[in-house]
Amino acid sequence: MMCSPWKMSSLILAFLALSFLNDRVPAVRAQADISAASPVKYNFVVKNTTFTKFCEARTILTVNDMYPGPEIRVKKGQTVLVNVQNDAAYGVTIHWHGVKQPRNPWSDGPENITQCLIQPGKNFTQEVIFSDEIGTVWWHAHSDWTRATVHGAIVVEPPPDELSDSPLRFPNYTLVFSTWFNQDLKEISDIIVLNGTNTAEAAGYTLNGFPGDQVTCDNVSEPTYNITVKRGETYVLHIVNAAMHEGHFFQVGMNNGTFDNSTDPASYNLDDPPEMNTAVVYGSGWTAVRFFANNPGVWFFHCHFESHVSWGMATALIVKDGPNLDQKLKPPPAGMPSCGA
Ligand SMILES: *[C@@H]1O[C@H](CO)[C@@H](O)[C@H](O)[C@H]1NC(C)=O
Ligand SMILES: *[C@@H]1O[C@H](CO)[C@@H](O)[C@H](O)[C@H]1NC(C)=O
Ligand SMILES: *[C@@H]1O[C@H](CO)[C@@H](O)[C@H](O)[C@H]1NC(C)=O
Ligand SMILES: *[C@@H]1O[C@H](CO)[C@@H](O)[C@H](O)[C@H]1NC(C)=O
Ligand SMILES: *[C@@H]1O[C@H](CO)[C@@H](O)[C@H](O)[C@H]1NC(C)=O
Ligand SMILES: *[C@@H]1O[C@H](CO)[C@@H](O)[C@H](O)[C@H]1NC(C)=O
Ligand SMILES: *[C@@H]1O[C@H](CO)[C@@H](O)[C@H](O)[C@H]1NC(C)=O
Ligand SMILES: *[C@@H]1O[C@H](CO)[C@@H](O)[C@H](O)[C@H]1NC(C)=O
Ligand SMILES: *[C@@H]1O[C@H](CO)[C@@H](O)[C@H](O)[C@H]1NC(C)=O
Repeated sequence: MMCSPWKMSSLILAFLALSFLNDRVPAVRAQADISAASPVKYNFVVKNTTFTKFCEARTILTVNDMYPGPEIRVKKGQTVLVNVQNDAAYGVTIHWHGVKQPRNPWSDGPENITQCLIQPGKNFTQEVIFSDEIGTVWWHAHSDWTRATVHGAIVVEPPPDELSDSPLRFPNYTLVFSTWFNQDLKEISDIIVLNGTNTAEAAGYTLNGFPGDQVTCDNVSEPTYNITVKRGETYVLHIVNAAMHEGHFFQVGMNNGTFDNSTDPASYNLDDPPEMNTAVVYGSGWTAVRFFANNPGVWFFHCHFESHVSWGMATALIVKDGPNLDQKLKPPPAGMPSCGA
């Protein structure tokens, strides 16, 4: 059943997800140099890699030949330098989903919002500044449909002196859910933009790159991801859903039907609204969010379905500098990608 393609469009009609582009963490480990004083460094090489999944061999865009991509693991408050080397045939950017990046929109990633595409054959060292984040966030490519295969987890661990009181002290595993397409994503994306029709047909979902055991092929054997646990032990699972998607705002209200500005605000939860980086908007419904405009920069605000972004369902919020030095934009880093080809 998983081998028979289902229409992505049915899922998209079900709801819209609004997202503040401010993503966070990856899922496979690259060599990291962790020390409290110096930034943590990763090398991300964006390139083609061939995998066989859902019975078919396909060449996809990956980071470091991994699907899902490398996991970034940091301690709270650390800064990470990710040298993104683009060996793909077209330009890419990487977004750090859920990372607030105080005063540093420069490395946030959304294509043509805070940076131009990293052109084929070029490098850009993206600076990812962690502040109060803790737990699981993720990273993903932020240009067209590249996100479908170029993504991974980011795990932010508590500082050593807080570990013993943290639920994150237990043995941990990272699970990344993704959607696998047996079609060329660049071709699908080009058709969607030109035609205005979503023709993407997913072959199915993967967990850490493995399909479920419903996939039976005559010619290839595809293992299932599994974890062996000890009876009576406690575990932490870092779960990233790269299949549907997530800024930082508080969702104060949502409902089905037409928004009525004279009555609906009375139902807002202004006391303890959930902090989200993606919110659902019901079909023909509405969602109200609030945010503190305290992080200077240009922040992309968009539907989290790529085809909808391609069709223009996106805007940007410009937050200007505050009066104090620590409320002003940092200067742009060296080596920002140039906007020409
Ligand atoms: C496996 O067999 C299917 C059906 O015959 C075919 O479409 C597919 O390309 C084959 N996969 C590989 C990796 O050879
Ligand atoms: C990567 O693969 C895609 C699809 O197969 C192809 O169009 C593209 O040219 C390849 N890129 C490189 C750099 O070889
Ligand atoms: C990109 O970074 C890698 C790794 O640091 C380096 O080997 C390579 O020379 C760089 N390429 C460019 C075009 O700067
Ligand atoms: C979490 O998992 C990582 C990688 O497996 C490991 O290095 C680390 O020690 C684990 N952390 C805890 C608190 O168990
Ligand atoms: C373009 O959209 C129409 C429906 O509006 C569809 O019939 C056609 O197959 C689409 N073309 C492509 C190349 O997907
Ligand atoms: C569990 O994973 C191992 C590899 O880590 C694999 O050999 C085994 O087949 C998997 N078990 C199941 C039931 O899929
Ligand atoms: C919204 O209302 C419509 C029409 O009454 C209904 O079909 C749909 O299921 C509702 N959706 C939600 C999320 O409540
Ligand atoms: C909603 O009502 C408030 C007053 O209750 C008003 O200040 C605001 O401009 C209204 N918003 C819209 C979109 O009409
Ligand atoms: C971003 O800008 C480049 C030119 O620098 C252009 O080719 C590309 O289409 C733009 N992307 C979007 C999504 O507008």
